[in-house]
Amino acid sequence: MSATVRVVAHPNIALSKYWGKAKRDGNFPAVPSLSVTLAGMATFTTVRFVEGLADDQVSLGGTPMTAGLTKVTALLDTVRAAAGIAHRAEVDTANDFPTGSGLASSASGFAALALASVRAAGLDWDATRVSGLARAASASAARSLFGGYVELPFGAEGARPVATKESFPLRVLVCVATEEAKKVASTEGMTTTAATSPYYAAWLEEAPRVHERLRSALLADDFSSVGALAESSALMMHASALAAGVVYVKGVTLDVLATVRELRAKGTEAYATMDAGPHVKVLVRPADAAKVHDVLAHVPGVLRMLTTEPGDAARVVDEGA
Ligand code: PMV
Repeated sequence: MSATVRVVAHPNIALSKYWGKAKRDGNFPAVPSLSVTLAGMATFTTVRFVEGLADDQVSLGGTPMTAGLTKVTALLDTVRAAAGIAHRAEVDTANDFPTGSGLASSASGFAALALASVRAAGLDWDATRVSGLARAASASAARSLFGGYVELPFGAEGARPVATKESFPLRVLVCVATEEAKKVASTEGMTTTAATSPYYAAWLEEAPRVHERLRSALLADDFSSVGALAESSALMMHASALAAGVVYVKGVTLDVLATVRELRAKGTEAYATMDAGPHVKVLVRPADAAKVHDVLAHVPGVLRMLTTEPGDAARVVDEGA
């Protein structure tokens, strides 16, 4: 039996979004992306390779996992091939936030699985290589291997850190709009968008420009530009998806967006971003977090709110024999 390795990884929220796959094998994004890894939400994953198991045994939140098992097994197969291990694995994973509803559980989930399985197999891979392994399963997961602000450049195997969590103070207020899993997985949403959206070509052209500008604004400590560019990246991504009939927003999503814009009109800088789900994540300066939280918590349909901030890289928390 291998070592038992327990890992924690945090989700990340893309400020400049990835949407769509490159035309090559291996799950490479069609556009670059830049994210912030978030403290305050976490996935804990334990992996060990066990002699005599017939199949990989994966549990999510204490329940045997069924959906998404193919990607898990594919990742474990890559690790087994690299380490020369034949044994199947026991994987226990749990999120302390809603799973599969656009709160980036696949990002923290596959980041945690990649790091835990690499270490359990005794492989001495650096974070970039582990990030590449995570990317092959879920491209956003590549970014959760690192803390602070992280970029997945176009065509890169793995993500790389861009700025430390201290360098750009931020609070991300997550407005939880549902506790349910989404109906259209992100890969399916992307495939439909690429195949049928009349706006997909415009997205492919515009996303890298927004990405570059956002990266420069981040490094220049320009909060207003980072916020404005993050909001337009999200709106462009959703516009291209909406035009293909891929609808992740709900009424509450648009109500929160409208409230964020009202706040801005009245002089409080808040910016909205949404992923493949109805939740809105609102970017504010730390000093404005409490005030904006109070306003958004009263928007009808917001079930609850999480206040998060830039967090740390995925890391091993326990390594037993
Ligand atoms: O890597 P996936 O399949 O979790 O897709 C992520 C897509 C978005 O969250 C919408 C954008 C992003 O860059 O994280």
